[in-house]
Amino acid sequence: MFSPRRISGFEGLRRRIVDEMLEGVWREMEERGVVEVREILQKGSLRNVVESVFGRCVCLEGEELGLMVKEGYELISKFNWEDYFPLGFLDFCGEGEGVISWREVQDSDIPNLPYLQAIVKEVLRLHPPGPLLSWARLAIHDVHVGKFFVPAGTMAMVNMWAITHEGSIWKNPWTFRPERFMEEEVSIMGSDLRLAPFGSGRRVCPGKALGLATVHFWLARLLHQFTWLPVPSHSVIDLSECLRLSLEMKKPLACCVVRRKSAAII
Ligand code: HEM
Repeated sequence: MFSPRRISGFEGLRRRIVDEMLEGVWREMEERGVVEVREILQKGSLRNVVESVFGRCVCLEGEELGLMVKEGYELISKFNWEDYFPLGFLDFCGEGEGVISWREVQDSDIPNLPYLQAIVKEVLRLHPPGPLLSWARLAIHDVHVGKFFVPAGTMAMVNMWAITHEGSIWKNPWTFRPERFMEEEVSIMGSDLRLAPFGSGRRVCPGKALGLATVHFWLARLLHQFTWLPVPSHSVIDLSECLRLSLEMKKPLACCVVRRKSAAII
């Protein structure tokens, strides 16, 4: 299911879902004058994963399977990992836009959108959704790592968040600057341990290509369709984080949108 062929076969599904999300965004804007993006994106990504995995539409409101998936998400997000692993907080302000053209963006446009890809990399660097890689890593014999001695049987937990904010690795690590990835090619697929938001090695995320294809395509469509603006009464966007199932915004993002007159990003 994670082969490039299957992933491109899901383009229609990704398009249907993003079309619905775009409608949802506009409806909220018209009805409430403000868009709370988290719920719209969560519903869309849950549906995307469930339909990609089960190959059919699972009604998340009624069916037993749908209810189980939904409950699983809700239960696990109640567990606040930050109570156990303090991560601190961060702030940044930045934005980026693609190049506007007339037709609707497609999967095949993504390789020609390097700045969009750089934005996604920079977001994954500053806010890795899985900041602590899985703890399925055990030292099977005594080993020295730099100046540290790691005895056999030690469970290792990789703090990717700390690596992606490390000043000796990243210039101005707290600054949102997608251009850094235009200046230097850095793979995010697990071969470069400075930035491995999908992990690395045997336990690397199997959904990384599907995840990236979805994020690139949806971001392109959301940027193409609307200009995104802060809510006038919120002068500063609070980017504090909290760790639940994944790293989330402590205060979910609310914004205003204006429809663009022209069409697609290319
Ligand atoms: C932007 C999207 C995603 C991000 C940032 C992400 C991130 C991660 C990370 C950091 C890990 C731990 C890797 C390690 O410890 O080395 C992981 C594991 C995993 N991910 Fe993802 N993931 C994403 C999307 C997906 C999708 C779409 C699926 C499936 C449909 C998926 C399924 C899994 C599974 C099953 C594992 C456990 C692998 C194992 O332990 O062997 N992920 N992911």
